Amino acid sequence: MSNSNNNSIISLNGVEKIYKTKAGPLRVLKGVNLEIKAGEFVAIVGPSGSGKSTLINMITGIDRPTSGEVHVAGERLTNMSENQVAKWRGRNVGVVFQFFQLLPTLTVIENVMMPMHYTGTYKGKRKERAMELLELVDLPDVANKYPSQISGGQQQRAAIARALANDPKLIVGDEPTGNLDVISAGLMFALFEDLVAEGKTIVMVTHDRDLAGQIPRVEEVRDGQLVAKEEIDQRLVAGAGA
Ligand SMILES: Nc1ncnc2c1ncn2[C@@H]1O[C@H](COP(=O)(O)OP(=O)(O)O)[C@@H](O)[C@H]1O
Ligand SMILES: [Mg+2]
Repeated sequence: MSNSNNNSIISLNGVEKIYKTKAGPLRVLKGVNLEIKAGEFVAIVGPSGSGKSTLINMITGIDRPTSGEVHVAGERLTNMSENQVAKWRGRNVGVVFQFFQLLPTLTVIENVMMPMHYTGTYKGKRKERAMELLELVDLPDVANKYPSQISGGQQQRAAIARALANDPKLIVGDEPTGNLDVISAGLMFALFEDLVAEGKTIVMVTHDRDLAGQIPRVEEVRDGQLVAKEEIDQRLVAGAGA
């Protein structure tokens, strides 16, 4: 059954993911249904190994489900070739990882310009746009440095600038603050809030309870399934009373 709700920027229907391992098939996502509307700010939480990264990779098209349907930003990813998905992702999704993943042989500004090579951005405009983004994340001074020459917090801000290069409507982070000190994580979170205020949709995995508590919608993954919202609410109430 394919069900792409017009209102949803992300729609997962019955998503199952089974990895083949030496020990046999490992069922990691067990029928996930998820609807996220354009403009939402959503935290994904859950214990280590519960399937959060696998779920995020379904949304970005970095990986595909064993069965079920994935619609994101107007496309049915489960129908597209790997090449088509890569092109689609470059235009529509900004992805931020825990370990920044900047290219070490490129300068900061070259890293930010990189995604623009794959879209129509006019060559003369790329540098100008990259510099604007570096100003947005408060990094104009390190534009010509290499990633190894700047701090982890600065690298992550550069990675965010890169994720924004093609002005994606959707930004997806897999523990983007996981490797940052409290101040850098706070700055990054403030930037995400600004982006949501501008109308972007953000989905981010986080281990940080304080951050998750400030995000309007929290989805919890437990053993490959999303926990019903009522159950999370009850636990929060129970926790508050303790
Ligand atoms: N490519 C893979 N091949 C086999 N098993 C995997 C693969 N990726 C993840 N897993 C397993 O799937 C489970 C969920 O992993 P993951 O989605 O990374 O969890 P989380 O992000 O919540 O920590 C783990 O048991 C992990 O070892
Ligand atoms: Mg993970």
